[in-house]
Amino acid sequence: MLELKNISHYYRNQSRNTEISVFENFNLLIGEGEIVSLVGKSGCGKTTLVNIIAGYTEPTSGSVFMNGEKVVAPGKDRIVINQIHDLFDWMTVYQNMRLVSNDDNDINKYLSMTRLSEFADAYPYELSGGMKKRLSLARALVVDPKFIIMDEPFNSLDYQLREKFQEELLDIVRKSKKTILFVTHDIEEAVFLSDKVIILSGRPTQIKKEIVISFSKNKVDSIRDTEDFIFLKKKIKEEM
Ligand SMILES: Nc1ncnc2c1ncn2[C@@H]1O[C@H](COP(=O)(O)OP(=O)(O)OP(=O)(O)O)[C@@H](O)[C@H]1O
Ligand SMILES: [Mg+2]
Repeated sequence: MLELKNISHYYRNQSRNTEISVFENFNLLIGEGEIVSLVGKSGCGKTTLVNIIAGYTEPTSGSVFMNGEKVVAPGKDRIVINQIHDLFDWMTVYQNMRLVSNDDNDINKYLSMTRLSEFADAYPYELSGGMKKRLSLARALVVDPKFIIMDEPFNSLDYQLREKFQEELLDIVRKSKKTILFVTHDIEEAVFLSDKVIILSGRPTQIKKEIVISFSKNKVDSIRDTEDFIFLKKKIKEEM
């Protein structure tokens, strides 16, 4: 279980002598095996929160607990897939995977799952944006973390690939019982993937509303066209 307790975070700009308060006494609980999406306007603090949970950023005050233990640094129990390019450019696709895993079978399994097997010897600059993202995902999965934090991971994918990835992610989660925190601007993606959608307000950011998504975890693509699904999308849009 992940617990954020009374998180406050400020950014100071020394030269302009200004301060922005992104969070004030923010609390959040994510249960094991849950898929939770965070949605909110650009600049409300989603990436800041991701960095705090990952252990990259120390909050101004408050604490993050992972299964009761305080988070003080990044750890292999929490893997982040970023908005930004996070591959090692001087290493091939295979070497990027090898850096985090010694298991060839696993490496090949995830390269195949993300349809990158043919590109094992290519360098990141030889891949498209979507392929790079798939490699980031493959690399996170091969580490087999309990908790995956994804910050708009599918933005560079085309529409069809994006839906395919959403389904694959659900499949992986179903098989391997992962806990996922998923940041997205895409309401449909949030409804499709999540057990719960958390809508954030503007700064200082608080939880505006939590919406429980009660479709079964065995989601199929056709669920997107159902009345319930469309209703939930509309409801979240209105709340934002
Ligand atoms: N390193 C930093 N120094 C100063 N201000 C920062 C820093 N990082 C973020 N901010 C500010 O904090 C606020 C929240 O930024 P953050 O990147 O967390 O937003 P976000 O919700 O992830 O936005 P987006 O949806 O556009 O990715 C913004 O106003 C931003 O300008
Ligand atoms: Mg962001």
